[in-house]
Amino acid sequence: MCSYRLDAEYADPTPLKVRIDTHERYSERPDEPAAAVLAALALTGTEQLADIGCGDARFLAQLAASGHQGPLVGIDTSPAMVAAADAIPGVRGVFGSAERIPFDDNSFDVVTARHMLYHVPDPTAALRDFRRITKPGGSVSVVVNHPGTYPHTSELVAAHATTYGVGSAVTMTVDSDTLPEMMTQVFGDVRIHRSDNALVFDTPEPLVRFAEALFTLYGVTPNHPRRQAILTDLREDVEDWFTHHPGHTWRDPKGYIVATAVVEPE
Ligand SMILES: C[S@@+](CC[C@H](N)C(=O)[O-])C[C@H]1O[C@@H](n2cnc3c(N)ncnc32)[C@H](O)[C@@H]1O
Repeated sequence: MCSYRLDAEYADPTPLKVRIDTHERYSERPDEPAAAVLAALALTGTEQLADIGCGDARFLAQLAASGHQGPLVGIDTSPAMVAAADAIPGVRGVFGSAERIPFDDNSFDVVTARHMLYHVPDPTAALRDFRRITKPGGSVSVVVNHPGTYPHTSELVAAHATTYGVGSAVTMTVDSDTLPEMMTQVFGDVRIHRSDNALVFDTPEPLVRFAEALFTLYGVTPNHPRRQAILTDLREDVEDWFTHHPGHTWRDPKGYIVATAVVEPE
C-alpha cells in the first residue's frame, strides 16, 4: 500500500517540484539544504558522486553546471526521475533501490541521499549499501527532516483526507531524532548540521498548492475519485482561516539535519 503510494507520488515530478519551490519561496529564512550538503562535503570537483533518490536531479544539475568534472550518477526507483536525471548534460540516471544499489563495492568517492531515506523500508540496510559502494576515505551525506515537520499543514491534509475516508499518511522510517544513532552504528563518527526554520504563508493559494502537493502521501492519489472534492473543501477551509485571522500568517515549523560520515577502511 505504502509502496504503491510512493510509486504514485513520484511517478510525476510535479508535486515534488511544487514542494521544493515552496520551500525556496516561503521559508522564513533562506532554506538551502543543497548548500548545507556541499558545505559538509567540501568537494574538489573531481569526485565520482552518486545521489541516491535523486528526484528530478536538480542537485546534480547544479553540480554539473558549477563545473564538477567527476562522474555524476542519479539513482532512483521512479522511472520518471531517472529519465529527468538522464536528460541533464553530464549526469547519468540509473534505475535502482537504495537497499540494493546496482553498483560494485567501492564505486564512488561520495554518496548523497537527500530527503529520501525516510521512504526506505529498511534505512539501516540502505546505509550499509551506501557504505558498500563508497571507497574507503570517501564520504556519505544524508539529509532527513525533523519528526513531524510542518505539523499544521500535515494535520490539515490528514483531516480532510480522513473526512472522505482516505487512509493514513505514508510512514516515515527515519527522522532527525533517529538518524544520528543509525549512522553511528554503520559508520562510526558522524557530523551533524541542523537547520530549524518554518514555512510562512500570508495568502491562501500557495498554502493550498503546497497542501495539494502532499495529497498522494496521505492516500489521495492522482486518480482518487474524491480528490477534487477534498481539494475544494481544503481550499475553503484555508480561505476561511485567513478571513478569520486578518493580519496573521500561517506559520509552520520545519527543519532537517545533514548527517555526514567518512568511510573508514574495514
Ligand atoms: C522527497 S524526494 C527527494 C528527491 C531529491 N533527493 C531532493 O532532495 O530533491 C524522494 C525521492 O526518493 C525516491 N525513492 C523513494 N524510495 C526510494 C528507494 N528505495 N531507492 C531509491 N530512491 C527512492 C523517490 O522516487 C523520489 O524521487
